[in-house]
Amino acid sequence: MDFSLSAEHELIREMAYKFGQQVIVPDVTKRDREAKSDRAVLEKMAEAGLLAVSIPEAYGGSGTDYVSLGLVCEELERADTSARVVMSVHSGLHAMTILQWGTEEQKQRWLPKLASGELVGAFGLTEPDAGSDAANIRSTARKDGDSYVLSGEKTWISLADYADQFLVIARLEDPAVESEKPRHVALIVNRNLAGFTSRPLHGKLGVRSGNTGQIFFDNVRVSAEDRLGEDGDGFKVAMSALDHGRYTVAAGAVGIITACLDACNTYARDRKVGGEEIGKKQLVQQMIANMAAGRDIGRLLYYQVGWMKNTGARHTREVSMAKWVNCKNAFDAANSAVEIHGAYGFTDEFPVERYFRNSRGAMIYEGTHEIHTLIQAEYELGYRVDRPLARTLPTFNG
Ligand code: CAA
Repeated sequence: MDFSLSAEHELIREMAYKFGQQVIVPDVTKRDREAKSDRAVLEKMAEAGLLAVSIPEAYGGSGTDYVSLGLVCEELERADTSARVVMSVHSGLHAMTILQWGTEEQKQRWLPKLASGELVGAFGLTEPDAGSDAANIRSTARKDGDSYVLSGEKTWISLADYADQFLVIARLEDPAVESEKPRHVALIVNRNLAGFTSRPLHGKLGVRSGNTGQIFFDNVRVSAEDRLGEDGDGFKVAMSALDHGRYTVAAGAVGIITACLDACNTYARDRKVGGEEIGKKQLVQQMIANMAAGRDIGRLLYYQVGWMKNTGARHTREVSMAKWVNCKNAFDAANSAVEIHGAYGFTDEFPVERYFRNSRGAMIYEGTHEIHTLIQAEYELGYRVDRPLARTLPTFNG
């Protein structure tokens, strides 16, 4: 057993850390105050090669492993959640799912452009009436010869206004096949198709400098060449996309905890009460110690998932655990960070109030805290048992 990161991992971590601190942090409070999502951040991420991470060289990527993707997400979220969300959606939910499910032709067609940022990808599963109950979506894809006619709407879609294409999950309507259970299909939908529209959502509690919106399909005709997997695979495609997305969220949550520690370690040594640094107070120390535990446990959990991804092992249970535990620990860390900062923690003069708002969102998206609690209990009780998957990501042996 080897817990060390390779020299390449350390380089990637350092590069993502510097990018976060030098490119994202300087204007982050301004963007958050103005609730302004800046597409230039995404473009700079592409220029820095971040969107190529974990895409094989054969498809125009950097060829780095899946642990690298986690490290990038951790360091980006240490700077700002909105930047990590770009990785989660574009790389995790979209590109990795094409890597897992795409035909050779589809991978050659889309992945090089996704790796370079020439194409921006997003994910459309959630609907106004179907969040946790993902199998109960209402959008339909009616099979019509060599294409599908897509109708319906999706909500809470990150990058809704920026993405060039969306991995959309819809209920399959195929008159040729009778089925008691709903069947689903996964389609890559280009925003330029007739009948596609998007609308931004405003007034969010957190991730204010990230773009979130709704997308609508009014009889959008999508070619069967743009289907991921086969008819009826749509739900599995969605769940495996979440295996990738949840990994990036779990890794990012560790970045929030580290950012809380960065802020609190400085503040607790600077701020004095009765002539003594508040860092010397035992109740403050307890909060700092809990944050450090959350960071270290969180790394072990997501490194394990990264390693499992590298070997091609199914990791649905482990990634749910990492996402569940890390997001809760990140929220607790941010709550403590506000506490340690006192009244200053209640203003955006210090970053911790932003960490508090942003960390709350991750306990909702990509599976709520409650859904992951239930998933974990079901595994433990033997009600949920995973089988190896027919389609896996390319493996890394290095
Ligand atoms: N990979 C591949 N296949 C999988 C899979 C995976 N990770 N997980 C499940 N499957 C397969 C199963 O093997 C099963 O196939 P068979 O019928 O052939 O056996 C099939 O999919 C159904 O699986 P389950 O029985 O596990 O499905 P379920 O109905 O019990 O799932 C649930 C329930 C786990 C709660 C699921 O609905 C769920 O995860 N809900 C939460 C949805 C969610 O996270 N939404 C977030 C949307 S994205 C977002 O929020 C971010 C954004 O901004 C875009």
